[in-house]
Amino acid sequence: MKIVFATKNRGKVREVQEKLKEFGIEVVPIDEVAEVEAPEETGKTFCENAYQKATYYSEKLGMPVIAEDSGLEVKALGGKPGVYSSRFAGENATDEENNRKLIEELRKRGLENSPARYVSFIFLAFLEKAGLWSEGEVRGRVITEPRGTGGFGYDPLFIPKGYGKTMAELPLKEKNRISHRGKAVEKLVNIIRLVKKL
Ligand code: IMP
Repeated sequence: MKIVFATKNRGKVREVQEKLKEFGIEVVPIDEVAEVEAPEETGKTFCENAYQKATYYSEKLGMPVIAEDSGLEVKALGGKPGVYSSRFAGENATDEENNRKLIEELRKRGLENSPARYVSFIFLAFLEKAGLWSEGEVRGRVITEPRGTGGFGYDPLFIPKGYGKTMAELPLKEKNRISHRGKAVEKLVNIIRLVKKL
């Protein structure tokens, strides 16, 4: 079984490919299938954004498409950066710029170690505007001294609950086992299996 994944984020592609391989599902990044202009991300929630992206691409390509929207929510920052995680430091900001901005915001408030969570929302669109969805989260805390070179995004600043290492210091297999995206993908696979049985 092959599923198109609507993202340009190589970190996400690697994670989801690795996870779905266990279930015999091949994930193909959308840019290997077609060149489609990206829609504007206008949603106020992860759910809205994932739904918008998946249905948009699925309609354009006429095939089932998975889209994912995710981000980091820091409690002391009122849930920020949230849906703006990839553009926290501005449109087209790099991971390093976003991380620097987060460190700044935390230091301004004297927070060196602050509760946070990663959230992932996945939508599999098929037929017209119909689909299946799932959500995953991983709780932890954010620090102000980056550590590690693995993963992507805020991983050098995020320590999952029960760990002494940042996400960027964990091997990809371990990150996948505990990550928000890994959990959302696993739930989605269970839902697909259930639906296939009906
Ligand atoms: P999206 O591509 O609009 O869903 O934005 C996701 C953004 O959230 C990424 O660019 C990262 O900044 C952040 N993010 C989501 N998942 C992760 C993760 O697993 N590690 C680190 N950062 C993440």
